[in-house]
Amino acid sequence: MKNIMVTGGAGFIGSAFVRQMVKKHPEFNIIAFDKLTYAGNLENLTPVNDLPNFKFVQGDIADREAVRSTYEEHAIDTVVNFAAESHVDRSILSPDAFINSNTVGVHILLESAQKHGMERFLHVSTDEVYGDIEGDHFSLEDDPFQPNSPYSASKAGGDLMVRAYHVTYGMNTIVTRGSNTYGPYQYPEKLMPFFISEAIDDRPLPVYGNGMQVRDWLHVEDHAGGIYTALMKGEAGQAYNIAGENQQNNIDVIRLMLKHLNKPETLLKYVPDREGHDRRYAMNCDKLKALGWKRLYDHSDFDKAVADTVAWYKANESWWRKIKTGEYLEYYKRQYAARLAAAGATA
Ligand code: NAD
Ligand code: TYD
Repeated sequence: MKNIMVTGGAGFIGSAFVRQMVKKHPEFNIIAFDKLTYAGNLENLTPVNDLPNFKFVQGDIADREAVRSTYEEHAIDTVVNFAAESHVDRSILSPDAFINSNTVGVHILLESAQKHGMERFLHVSTDEVYGDIEGDHFSLEDDPFQPNSPYSASKAGGDLMVRAYHVTYGMNTIVTRGSNTYGPYQYPEKLMPFFISEAIDDRPLPVYGNGMQVRDWLHVEDHAGGIYTALMKGEAGQAYNIAGENQQNNIDVIRLMLKHLNKPETLLKYVPDREGHDRRYAMNCDKLKALGWKRLYDHSDFDKAVADTVAWYKANESWWRKIKTGEYLEYYKRQYAARLAAAGATA
């Protein structure tokens, strides 16, 4: 392992992984490859931009020629694929881009990797491929896939294609499936950064349904650390769950954010639910722990970790205020205007 291509390296989790790798491994060359969609942001990479073992290439994983030439020009021996359309609500409004990047794009990366003779290919997948988890079950890596949104179905397609390349062509692959991730540099459409940035401006906070849905919250540094462990120590052809082991109802997470922001609950607006909304995600991550993975943030640290996350968005207003303009505002209107109106609030 020497020349590692990190696709989606300008996004939320990909950039955290790049920042960790560039500093931890000066002997590796880290090439961030990113299309710079609405969610890609070169500012996420400023901390490593001037380091000699880091390079950025703008490109699309669904573009065969861009992928082939990057593999060759940079003598890539390892791929870590974060590149994806990642927001469930956007996938419900417009699924096309999701299928193109999350399924077709993964296939193009794999096909070129196969021809190029890639040493290792790690694909970043999600707990959402397992679907809505009933009762007190915790998904295991061999559980069946039951994706319910266009996002999770497109991720399941990519995840299964990686499996096929291992079984059919003997490619050295790893899949990781992470749970809901939070922390600095997250695009402000996902629950935590969206609600924090809206609450700072005293704007209405649209809670879907009754707010009793359950997610397992994982700090971004721990998600990136789990991918690192799987990359270094994982067994070829295997999948590894990366869980926070930190199940929370949405409404509890929202109240925690309000507490640390010192904002009133009157900002909360209960709006019509997301279509096909999965009630609960929960995974078992013993398989990754057996490789020696340890989290920095546990369930008992969540209050403090949310306080730190709130503090980061307060200290970095210029980062998210620049984003919340133009296309973002159009998306915001499409997603929330009618919902908020139904709850008697104005978007
Ligand atoms: P993000 O939306 O913040 O970043 C995605 C990045 O991929 C962006 O920089 C974007 O420009 C880039 N990209 C999108 N399509 C591309 C394409 N066709 N070619 C090249 N680059 C492209 O997403 P994130 O939250 O950092 O998620 C990263 C990965 O982790 C995704 O694969 C996602 O499915 C997975 N994941 C996310 C979470 C979560 O809670 N955020 C949880 C589990 C798994
Ligand atoms: P999100 O951050 O979109 O992640 P995911 O859908 O991948 O779990 O949402 C997290 C939870 O928060 C999910 O149950 C949906 C809910 N949610 C709201 O209630 N209101 C919102 O405006 C958003 C964006 C999410």
